[in-house]
Amino acid sequence: MTDYTHVPVLAEEVVNLLITEKKGTYVDATLGMGGHTSLLLAALPEEASVLGIDWDPEMAAMAANKLETFGARVKIAQGNFANIDEILAREGVRSLSGVLFDLGISSLHFDKPSRGFSLKHNGPLDMRINPDNPLTAYTIINQWPYEQIEHLIRVCGERHSRRITRAVLESRRAKPLETTAELTALIERVAPARGEKIHPATKTFLALRVAVNYEFDNLTRGIQKVMPLLKPGTRMGIITFHSLEDRIVKETFRMMANMGGWELVTRKPVKPSEEEVASNKRARSAKLRVIEKL
Ligand SMILES: C[S@@+](CC[C@H](N)C(=O)[O-])C[C@H]1O[C@@H](n2cnc3c(N)ncnc32)[C@H](O)[C@@H]1O
Repeated sequence: MTDYTHVPVLAEEVVNLLITEKKGTYVDATLGMGGHTSLLLAALPEEASVLGIDWDPEMAAMAANKLETFGARVKIAQGNFANIDEILAREGVRSLSGVLFDLGISSLHFDKPSRGFSLKHNGPLDMRINPDNPLTAYTIINQWPYEQIEHLIRVCGERHSRRITRAVLESRRAKPLETTAELTALIERVAPARGEKIHPATKTFLALRVAVNYEFDNLTRGIQKVMPLLKPGTRMGIITFHSLEDRIVKETFRMMANMGGWELVTRKPVKPSEEEVASNKRARSAKLRVIEKL
């Protein structure tokens, strides 16, 4: 059986920058395998608790198992953090001592071929964080019109968006594209690597995942909904893994600071040390930004 693990990124930095209160409820809006939640609980006294949220029911169940030892100090809720206000109301939480978003998907998602997230493992074109989500990567690839697919992957930084989209449409005319391996092979054929550091299909895969899970919309809504719930003097921390996401956080935090009532704790994003990147490749693109409510 595969041993799925996920090493929390910027662990020390999160604990040092997020904790301002030694009591109350913290929210881990992207619970995953519970790595950051465990670190926060270990750093906080008994009076403080963490509510962990994950959109993926499988992840929420795994974290529940892992965090059992913390007893009543941890609560777990399944849901989309875009609806964080409703989730907290349901859990009877009225105010927060801090909130963390560690965006994207966990190593478990990448490593499980059946979820269809990884271009390294063959699986169905799925990519849903929550398997109840009606939209899949299969629908986008096999049903969306040329303009929509081309625009999506171009916005996510793919230089060969037209070439790739033309090839997708041509291929699906003969037979639907079913698997991640088929899509990867098609991209390798029409947009082969020319010395770039990343695989030629990386940006298309990222674009599909972002669209399937409406990730940018969730992020904006999540930030907006959590703002009134934080107590004065407490903080929101967000870890991003690609520039589009980081730009949303940077601009939103700057707007909040300009509006008044918020102060940037990190003027520049906090990045992992060389040692962390050497021991956890997934950390290499991580950036943490933190803002405090005044
Ligand atoms: C990078 S992982 C978090 C890892 C976690 N910090 C840890 O140390 O184990 C991101 C997690 O957020 C979840 N997620 C992604 N989008 C979400 C959303 N809109 N609402 C709630 N959870 C979400 C994913 O299912 C995934 O488990």
